[in-house]
Order: sequence, then C-alpha cells, then structure tokens
Amino acid sequence: MKAWLLDGYNGITTLRLAEVADPSPKAGEVVLEVRYAGLNPADAYLAQKLYPAKPAFPHVLGREGLGSVCAIGTGVTAWNIGEQALIMPGDTGANRWGTFAQKVAIPAIELLRVPTGWDLKAAAAGPLVYLTAWQALTQWGPLPQGAIVLVTGASGGVGSATLQLAAAMGHETIALTRSDAKAPALRSLGARFILNCTSKGWAKSLKEQLAGRRVHLAVDNVGGEIFADVIDTLGMNGAVSVVGRLAGPVPEFNTAMLFFRRLRIGGVAVGSWSPQEMPAQWKQVVDLLDRCHRQPIIDHIYPCADVLKAFARLAEGPIGKVMIEMPPAP
Ligand SMILES: NC(=O)c1ccc[n+]([C@@H]2O[C@H](COP(=O)([O-])OP(=O)(O)OC[C@H]3O[C@@H](n4cnc5c(N)ncnc54)[C@H](OP(=O)(O)O)[C@@H]3O)[C@@H](O)[C@H]2O)c1
Repeated sequence: MKAWLLDGYNGITTLRLAEVADPSPKAGEVVLEVRYAGLNPADAYLAQKLYPAKPAFPHVLGREGLGSVCAIGTGVTAWNIGEQALIMPGDTGANRWGTFAQKVAIPAIELLRVPTGWDLKAAAAGPLVYLTAWQALTQWGPLPQGAIVLVTGASGGVGSATLQLAAAMGHETIALTRSDAKAPALRSLGARFILNCTSKGWAKSLKEQLAGRRVHLAVDNVGGEIFADVIDTLGMNGAVSVVGRLAGPVPEFNTAMLFFRRLRIGGVAVGSWSPQEMPAQWKQVVDLLDRCHRQPIIDHIYPCADVLKAFARLAEGPIGKVMIEMPPAP
C-alpha cells in the first residue's frame, strides 16, 4: 500500500510517499481501507517533537478518518467486511500508524459507526473535533439556559464544531477570528457576535455589545496574547476550557483575575475518554446535530498526493476540517 512516511522529527515538509507492506489485523483489530483522513495541528506538532507521543520511525501520521473494513482479526464479531467505520480519537497516528495511508489497523473497540443518513465525508470530519468541542462545552457541568459561550480560533476544526454545538445547545455564541472575511461563514455556523482578535479593543467592544452581560464559558483554541483578555470577558463563576495553543504561550497573566470572580481554567483532552466512554459521548453529539439538521463542516478535501498543500491550508486557517482522500487500495 501507499503511505506517507515520517522518518524523524524534521517537520511535515519531510513526509515522503512510499510503498509499504499492508497491515494485517492482530487479535481484536480490524484493517480499514482508508477513504478520507482528517488533518490536525497535532500531526504537525508530532512531526516537530512538540507532542507527547514519541513513535518509532518510520511513522505514519493521521489521527482520524473513515474507511471500509477490509480484514478482521480474531475475536472481532461486531464488524463485517465492507462496513464503513469511523476512528475514535486515541492512539491512531500518535503511538501507532495512522490514516495517511491506504490501510490502517485499528482495535475494533476504537471504531464508531457512521451516523444514519450522514454524508461519508462529513462523518469522516466528525469524531475528533466534535468530541473535543463537546468535552470543552460540557466538562464544567450544565451551563445556564441561554449562556454566552466565547470561542477562539472559531473558524478551525474545533472552533466551528464548538460554534455549531453551542448554538444547537441554545447558547449565545461569540466567535473570535483573525479574519474579517470569515464573518459570513461564522455567522452561518451560529455565531451571534464576531470579533477580530487582532484588533486591540476587541474585548472592550465585546463588553459594550453585551451591555452588562458577561461570558459564561470560553473555549480557547489559541492561547497566546489574547488569553488575558479572554479571561477578562468572563462573568462570576465563568470558566475557560483550554483546548489548544496555536498562538503560542500566554505572555503575562495576573492570577488575581481569577479569584474575585471565582473563575476556573481547565484543560480539555479528548483522548482522556476511554473507548468504552466515547460512543455514548459521540451519540449525544450526533443526536444534537441531527436535531438541528447540521453535519460537520469541511473546508477542503485534497487528493492524497497533495498532503503538503493540505497542511499549508491548515496552517493558514481553514473554515472547518481539512482532509485528504486516499486512492483505492490495489
Ligand atoms: N485538547 C484536545 O483534546 C485537542 C483536540 C483537538 C485539537 N486540539 C488543539 O486545538 C487547537 C485547534 O485545533 P483545530 O483542529 O481547530 O485547528 P485548525 O483547524 O487549524 O483551526 C484553528 C483556527 O485557529 C486560528 N488560528 C490558527 N493559528 C492561529 C494563530 N497563530 N493565532 C491565532 N489564531 C490562530 C485560525 O482561525 P482564524 O484564521 O479564523 O483566526 C484557525 O482556523 C490546536 O492547537 C489543536 O492541537 C486539542
């Protein structure tokens, strides 16, 4: 089969397309013929040794995707040849070979069914970012009815998922972006207020627009210089779900901002849900999206050969998920 190989921690630009042996399923595993694979900033982090996973080389990146079952290991009874399956967020593409290949071996317990009636591409774009967004939105317990939820990096995979889910949950959403051109797309995803986080006065302008109301929950995908302003927008007992840090470290932060309003900051780790817990969380996500007739958002699907173009698109800031499509395996 064809696979994009990473030979060391020299960045994604050193990926090379090679011919390697097909995987064969161990006990409890199935092999999927990959159709769509999703890209994530974590792939680029791992390729630069900026991620906890330290796989053996050569390694195949790719944390998620959709494929059809083409081989079944002993002890697997829940899946049949030819069925389409989705991959849960977990060790795929981190400590074991991932989906930037024509085939991938996955423990059967880490597979999810394609939701009924869903487009296959949209389904492929779903589990990783929607489960991350779901954890970020729910980890502090139920929010008040009509709560205000602020999302940074709102146009990306996790951001667009968070906007959609928060709107579906009845929350009022605020999208932060670096690009005014993305405003119409963000509005269509459910954003009530859209602010450009590169403008110095965005937090003041938001407070004016909220006319005395404050943010209940911030879902932060970027960190960096705007983090202190994000904290500043929170009301009493407000919380921040820290998902990512695309804008780098937070330069200065006064913890006194936390205690007067009893604010809480907590990390999100989608992989901390076990394969046993994940299907129930995924069902809640699917039910919510189905109720409001929404499906995951795709920015662009590139052919397998254009994986570097796809990573360039991810780095510039997509609207939804960036994916690659694999050619059929021989
Ligand atoms: N904790 C977890 O379990 C978990 C799970 C999944 C992902 N993550 C992390 O969450 C973060 C977001 O992931 P994603 O898949 O949504 O990424 P993504 O699809 O690349 O989108 C991120 C969005 O953030 C904005 N952005 C990108 N670079 C930025 C920068 N330097 N400064 C400010 N904004 C920037 C862009 O929006 P604009 O162009 O509109 O500004 C972009 O569309 C990443 O750090 C990822 O590693 C964590």
